[in-house]
Amino acid sequence: VTDGPRTRSNLREALASLEPIASRLTDLSRRHYHNPYATVWPESIAPESAWCTSPELTTLYGTPRWDRMTVPARRRLAFHEAANFFSLNIHGEAALMAGLAARLARRDLESITEYLHHFLDEENKHSVYFSGFCRRYACIYRSRQLAFPGSPFSTEQEDFIFFAKTMIFEEIVDHYNFRLGRDPRLHPTARFINEYHHAEEARHLVFGRRLVSVMWAACAPAWGQDARQSIRDYLGAFVTMAWREYYNPDVYADCGFDDPWEVAESAWQDPAQRAHRRAATRRCFRVLRSADIFDRDESDAF
Ligand SMILES: [Fe+2]
Ligand SMILES: [Fe+2]
Repeated sequence: VTDGPRTRSNLREALASLEPIASRLTDLSRRHYHNPYATVWPESIAPESAWCTSPELTTLYGTPRWDRMTVPARRRLAFHEAANFFSLNIHGEAALMAGLAARLARRDLESITEYLHHFLDEENKHSVYFSGFCRRYACIYRSRQLAFPGSPFSTEQEDFIFFAKTMIFEEIVDHYNFRLGRDPRLHPTARFINEYHHAEEARHLVFGRRLVSVMWAACAPAWGQDARQSIRDYLGAFVTMAWREYYNPDVYADCGFDDPWEVAESAWQDPAQRAHRRAATRRCFRVLRSADIFDRDESDAF
């Protein structure tokens, strides 16, 4: 699929309207420029000695299994889930950095290029922290997300999908960062990483929400009903895939559960966890609906 000249010039104009916000965010990134290499890391973190995830944000919270777990077992789960959360961020940020890097020399994205350089720089620093934690104290858990080769979408649709996926991913992550960064029960290292990530992601989200709305308004009318529906379906499936990563059988195996796949499946199906996912995705769906990208509440899907 190729893009028509009309949508391309619409997009250029639409992106030009983002220049003031992109330059404000660029200033903020420069003012809050952060060095991730000055951090003093503790020698070790004993999984059962402190909370590394707030208990309410673990994947077994609210399920019958949680009630049967001792406090040390709950803390162990919270520790491995912190490593899993940081790992899924590493994998997500790797794809994000690749997508940003591929767009830095694009003439048609010129009005936002300067900010994209900061975006990429900040994602790399986040991954320095996430992998610093995982490699020192736990491991980098693998991702089970599959990449499908080949794309039925045009370049412009791919651009939109890339930034929409970025926003969805960051909205969900930020639900956790915001809460974990303020929880006094958390181990100071885990708490700091979340607090720092939230501070920078707040800027990425301001940018991402605006960018996605503006791109859709400028381009989607010319794409046709079928293409718009395929994009909606694709993004809906992406939300489910993004959430699946939080319920990692490898984590349950590390916590000593005999049937880690069964634990993952029953946690995923549990009504309390379903309600948690809906609440955590609410803001993101609100943005997608108010930009007319989604036309109904897609959260029934998961
Ligand atoms: Fe990040
Ligand atoms: Fe980000």
